[in-house]
Amino acid sequence: MNKSCFNGLYRVNSKNEFNVPFNQKKKVNTYDKENIVAINQYFNNNQITILNGDFEYSVKDAKKRDFIYFDPPYDSDSDTFTSYTDNGFNKEDQVRLSKLFKKLDKKGCYVMLSNHNTKLINKLYKDYNIYVIEAKRNINANGSGRGKIEEVIITNY
Ligand SMILES: C[S@@+](CC[C@H](N)C(=O)[O-])C[C@H]1O[C@@H](n2cnc3c(N)ncnc32)[C@H](O)[C@@H]1O
Repeated sequence: MNKSCFNGLYRVNSKNEFNVPFNQKKKVNTYDKENIVAINQYFNNNQITILNGDFEYSVKDAKKRDFIYFDPPYDSDSDTFTSYTDNGFNKEDQVRLSKLFKKLDKKGCYVMLSNHNTKLINKLYKDYNIYVIEAKRNINANGSGRGKIEEVIITNY
């Protein structure tokens, strides 16, 4: 539904009702059939487990030489240390994740993580490789929020 809406946004009102206006698009590409079929075949022909839970639980059985990529909710320089961000992932969760990153590193796993280029993230991962990249963002309610923003890719290898 959001592909046919203004700027591909997902937004709700105070009653949790979807309220993005229709974008008047004549043709909406909801999915790429070839891609969906390829993904279907990949999932059926490989041993894949999809977990839904907290990140600590998801990697509890990680072993030496496993590769782990974390793509957590973004940190923001504008939040105070204890405040909850609107995605329910606060600064303490970022700290908890960084401790897990360190634990997995000590275990001998290959760990990669992406986030916004904020002060906290730079501080938490100062002992690792931090690559700054520019990411393009097309989806934002505010036009000034669209365009290029700095992200970081962090690795322990
Ligand atoms: C930046 S998004 C990552 C999106 C995902 N990589 C994708 O391509 O669709 C952050 C994700 O972290 C999830 N998340 C929030 N709190 C979490 C937690 N405590 N443990 C694991 N995942 C969490 C959110 O639901 C959200 O899907």
